[in-house]
Amino acid sequence: MAGKKDKKIIVGNWKMNPNSQVEALRTFESIKKKAGKLRNVQTVICPPAIYLSSLGKKVTGHRCVLGAQNTFWENKTGSFTGETSADMLSGVGAEYVIVGHSERRAIGEDNKVVGKKLISALKAGMNIILCVGEQERDNDGEYLRFIAKELVIALNDIPRRYCLNVIIAYEPIWAIGKDAERPATPEDVHEMSIFIRKVLSEVVGKDFAMTIPILYGGSVNPKNSQAFLESGGIQGLLVGRASLKAETFNKILEQSNETSVS
Ligand code: 13P
Repeated sequence: MAGKKDKKIIVGNWKMNPNSQVEALRTFESIKKKAGKLRNVQTVICPPAIYLSSLGKKVTGHRCVLGAQNTFWENKTGSFTGETSADMLSGVGAEYVIVGHSERRAIGEDNKVVGKKLISALKAGMNIILCVGEQERDNDGEYLRFIAKELVIALNDIPRRYCLNVIIAYEPIWAIGKDAERPATPEDVHEMSIFIRKVLSEVVGKDFAMTIPILYGGSVNPKNSQAFLESGGIQGLLVGRASLKAETFNKILEQSNETSVS
């Protein structure tokens, strides 16, 4: 199946980069220039929340839009020091939000918290990118049960109509970051995309499950991005380090635009 509107969804997760707003604006402008020309790609840039507002003013059209990296589960204003609600994020131009990234789970977010954040972001009208991924692979299939649990707890309670705004990102922890063992192989990703879709069918029903795009993330770069899209059974990519330099990310965007998904 193809992704939403048959476009590949290519997301840049800038994590805690760059160090200045000037650099954020410069990088975003050159990515936007490239992305604006690509019909077959939906580009989403997720900068640190502090830059969303200024980058939001630069968004023109729908081909290159913004996402947040995190949100809070409470959408009413109130006494939540340091938190930012989905309404606030969407008010400054974020159309997407990453929920449950492994780097946030590592600092204490559990599946229940992820589920609450997901509902509040969906209610605020945002598209959510739910990250799932195992720490390591074992021979007994424990890692599959782990992924299934992440999906079930997060998605079990959402009203089915919200599925149209859900994207799943498979990000195996062992494949993320500069110390990654290795990127996953397209075969690893293909096998997992089939498994994820099977679990989604059980949780939200087959029809909705077929509408949910699945992305892969973990050491994606211009050399391997095409293979993931061609043979991974996925509809897009979630890119970390390789999204920080416009020149590198733009290569991934260009290639994705030319690639047919399986
Ligand atoms: P890298 O592409 O730097 O491995 O990061 C992947 C990731 O965590 C994206 O969310």
